[in-house]
Amino acid sequence: MSAQVHTIALEGVVARPVEVEVDLHRGLPHVNVVGLPDGAVREAKDRVRAALANSGFALPPRRVTINLAPADLPKEGSGYDLPIAVALLVAMDVVSQDAVNRRLLLGELALDGRLKPVPGCLPAAIRARDDPQMDELVVPADNSAEAALVPGVTVVAPRTVTELVQHLTGATPLPAVPTTAWQHWLGQDDDSVPDLAHVKGQEHAKRALEIIAAGGHNLLMSGPPGSGKTLLSRCLPKILPELSLEEALEVTAIYSVAGKLSGERPVIGVRPFRAPHHTASQVALIGGGSIPRPGEVSLSHRGILFLDELPEFGRSVLEVLREPMESGGVTISRAARSAWFPAQFQLIAACNPCPCGHLGDPYHACQCPAVQVDRYRSRLSGPLLDRIDLHVEVPPVPVEQLVAMPSGEASAVVRQRVVQARARQQRRNGANRLNAHLAGDELAEHTRVDQEGESLLLLASRRMGFSARTYHRILKVARTLADLAGDKEIAVVHLAEAIQYRVNRQFTVE
Ligand SMILES: Nc1ncnc2c1ncn2[C@@H]1O[C@H](COP(=O)(O)OP(=O)(O)OP(=O)(O)O)[C@@H](O)[C@H]1O
Ligand SMILES: [Mg+2]
Repeated sequence: MSAQVHTIALEGVVARPVEVEVDLHRGLPHVNVVGLPDGAVREAKDRVRAALANSGFALPPRRVTINLAPADLPKEGSGYDLPIAVALLVAMDVVSQDAVNRRLLLGELALDGRLKPVPGCLPAAIRARDDPQMDELVVPADNSAEAALVPGVTVVAPRTVTELVQHLTGATPLPAVPTTAWQHWLGQDDDSVPDLAHVKGQEHAKRALEIIAAGGHNLLMSGPPGSGKTLLSRCLPKILPELSLEEALEVTAIYSVAGKLSGERPVIGVRPFRAPHHTASQVALIGGGSIPRPGEVSLSHRGILFLDELPEFGRSVLEVLREPMESGGVTISRAARSAWFPAQFQLIAACNPCPCGHLGDPYHACQCPAVQVDRYRSRLSGPLLDRIDLHVEVPPVPVEQLVAMPSGEASAVVRQRVVQARARQQRRNGANRLNAHLAGDELAEHTRVDQEGESLLLLASRRMGFSARTYHRILKVARTLADLAGDKEIAVVHLAEAIQYRVNRQFTVE
């Protein structure tokens, strides 16, 4: 007796088809799993056996071979419990082979026969939609909202093995899960995000925030303790444009694979703002593990990665940011093959100018010996700083001035200007291409400068020893400044402003 059931394996954020074949034959009772299973898949046989027995379907005393094909695709995680159990039920004649031919199944089993949620149901739904052989997707009830985000896919979501058997045999068919409405989740600003209006003064830093929001650039803020760096950074989500439906689908797929969606929150409808602690490991930041899962860089895709107290992060941890910052994605290599995850984030980092934090502070004397200051700064490598387009100093504002200052511009007003600047970029660069993403010919075409501008850039490059990367990044920032001003061409004023964001006295790369 043999049976075949369709399921998926995750490769990055893409679901690949996998077949689960089960064969029951005479011989000593034994269950054998073949086809590159990892530890969790091998454990599946014990969970499946118990879940089936507790649902009233004890395995017959036969020799059982379970094969997961294709063999060269690594299969991880507990999502194979359900397809294995159903394949066994087919081989045991409880369910017919016809009933599973056009269905895609995934889910974990608890020992008592309940279905438990698994990562990757959204990519599985996209796979089911794109495969003409599939009519229905079967996922655990707790994954139903996420699976039902993809229009055009029939999703059923049983809670137990018994419910599923009754559905597959036609005894008690389950209703299709209604499609989850995206609109409900899009653009709902988080109440915990502060408004720029509450930040007094700091016009220079606010201008920098507006520029990076408009062009997708990166920012480093340095200044003494309590000057408002963390507060300013946390304002960014409210001045960035809302996620489009297409972007939200991309981001939600990453959270699905990371196992970070829930029935209460099946959609990521606002730009992510991730703020990992400086003790975060390389794997936490970049992704990986025996089951490759996206790290913070991918969880902040299309949003913000905020690294507060930047020099406190391990140097090797920071070095791994270089690849995704350049390419907008990250490849996680494993023994057999590698997985790619999107990671197009904006980096915003904050730091003090020295260990005590008061170097350059007109109100407090710095206590740090020069050698300590050097050591502190050397934790940030040149290549990383080189990838940060804007470096700004955030000076302290004395309390008496703070109290007297009027409230600033509201985030909603700044966001309008950002949205307009982005619309200009889209018309010129193409959909979803921000100035920060321009490269090669596109960069040359869209960031042309006149003779006067070129002379200024060359002079500044010679004086400050800019690298070729810095030179290009200055051009991209200048392009954004022109877009914010509504200017067609990059003018000298835009170049001059872009250059001064690279000459922060505290952390200049030379
Ligand atoms: N410009 C400002 N306008 C209004 N409030 C401010 C301003 N600057 C600082 N504050 C207040 O001071 C608090 C501390 O600021 P914040 O945590 O952003 O400082 P920081 O620069 O990140 O300091 P550290 O270097 O110690 O991390 C804020 O939560 C806010 O209440
Ligand atoms: Mg801070």
